[in-house]
Amino acid sequence: MAKNTDLIIFGAAGDLANRKLFPALYRLHCAELLEDNVRIMGLARADMSNAEFIQATLESLQKMLGQDEIKDSQWQSFTRRLHYMQLDFVNKRHYANFKSWLVEKRVAIYYLATPPSLFGPISSHLNSAGCVDRLSRIVLEKPIGQDLASSRHVNDTVGQYFDERNIYRIDHYLGKETVQNLLALRFANRVIHSQWDNSCIDHVQITAAETVGIEGRWGYYDNVGQLRDMVQNHLLQLLCMVAMEPPNSLEADEIRAEKVKLMRALRPITGDSVSDDAVRGQYSAGWINGEPVVGYMEEEGSREGSSNTETFVALKAYVDNWRWTGVPFYLRTGKRMGEKLTQVVITYKDSPHSIFESGHTSGNRLVIRLQPNEGIQLEMVSKKQSLKERLSLEKRVLNLDFFETSKKDRIADAYERLLLEVISGNQWLFVSRDEIEASWHWCDSLLAAWYDKNINPKSYGAGSWGPSKAEILIERDDRSWYGSE
Ligand code: BG6
Repeated sequence: MAKNTDLIIFGAAGDLANRKLFPALYRLHCAELLEDNVRIMGLARADMSNAEFIQATLESLQKMLGQDEIKDSQWQSFTRRLHYMQLDFVNKRHYANFKSWLVEKRVAIYYLATPPSLFGPISSHLNSAGCVDRLSRIVLEKPIGQDLASSRHVNDTVGQYFDERNIYRIDHYLGKETVQNLLALRFANRVIHSQWDNSCIDHVQITAAETVGIEGRWGYYDNVGQLRDMVQNHLLQLLCMVAMEPPNSLEADEIRAEKVKLMRALRPITGDSVSDDAVRGQYSAGWINGEPVVGYMEEEGSREGSSNTETFVALKAYVDNWRWTGVPFYLRTGKRMGEKLTQVVITYKDSPHSIFESGHTSGNRLVIRLQPNEGIQLEMVSKKQSLKERLSLEKRVLNLDFFETSKKDRIADAYERLLLEVISGNQWLFVSRDEIEASWHWCDSLLAAWYDKNINPKSYGAGSWGPSKAEILIERDDRSWYGSE
């Protein structure tokens, strides 16, 4: 449990704070997971009193969590934690006022829910105003840079004022229950662990499909694209959790070291392989859940003409190490796809020799679903219950449904876990500088190959599963995407 801690949110009136941070903090408070003396300070540019800030937070919580979840007594006790101060983040002189709110010997956690361009100025101003000591922590949201060089610049700048052990880089996928469950699945189940390599596994698929478009963020997104927005961070983190070697312990340094090792073993996709192993797409108009939606170039805020930014990526990647040689990892992620689906699918090799004649004889598959309906399913081959047929086979599923098994009405949001870990000072679910840089290094080579070969995104209709080339990428290997048939 956390003690003597002040959580200071830069950007307290913004979208992230309202959609994720305050709902998560409120729920932690109601679950009695925040020590009584944890104070929460909201900083923003708006000229508001404490009372006005509390009222605005209440309204936004009611919108996000629904009226029923906000119980009067819990809300009243939560408000005792809340403070607000107006601050112009780029004005050095304004920080003196904020400094007077800090109390010696308490741990200050600075959560930067701001554009990354402010990470440098805020850290520097905090430091000049004497708000940083050896215990102060800083929490950074993605993106950390646009490529390896710019991510180094961000890390160097923040690193001038905060020790690496006090820098918490968020990848919210690591806060998801099912992502942490990958550790349990792999390392607490001998039966799984002993079959987790190229002698048993045929291939791995990782899908993160979204039905949403770019949600009013055209200006930001058009400079970024799906590779930087989703692959460089979330998909590579998932890949690491699936493929890294067993860490020596759950200590943050041990886990992070294994992830870095894995990323460094990723075979670069270069000019020679890029047209076979990588697909870029961009959505055109189509239908989502029976409703018409516009194409990427007609989205609100888009500019005239065309754009070379991808909203879909499919990749075939290899991990060049002892365990995974020869096992392809197929990754795909896109906006405006047929359904919201995030899952990892492990397909096992068939038995070396089949003694059966009829029915479904192909092998096992492990499906780990992150969202929606978090759960794990193991597809098994079983005998059909029948007197008529002697030994005919069928596919049956062992189903671990987390809603059912936990008997809860909801699974905690990633930010609840992540905020708890920041407050308790544990880095195991945060991304180290080395990880960020290794993942940019790999993505940079792919981006350069696309650029050098002049590969533009292929169009796909909103509501589909991406351009047909994404099907070809996997079908060429006699395999198919799971879950989008
Ligand atoms: C964010 C991306 O990091 O993750 C968004 O910037 C994306 O573009 C989002 O929509 C997806 O998160 P989740 O948890 O809904 O899969």
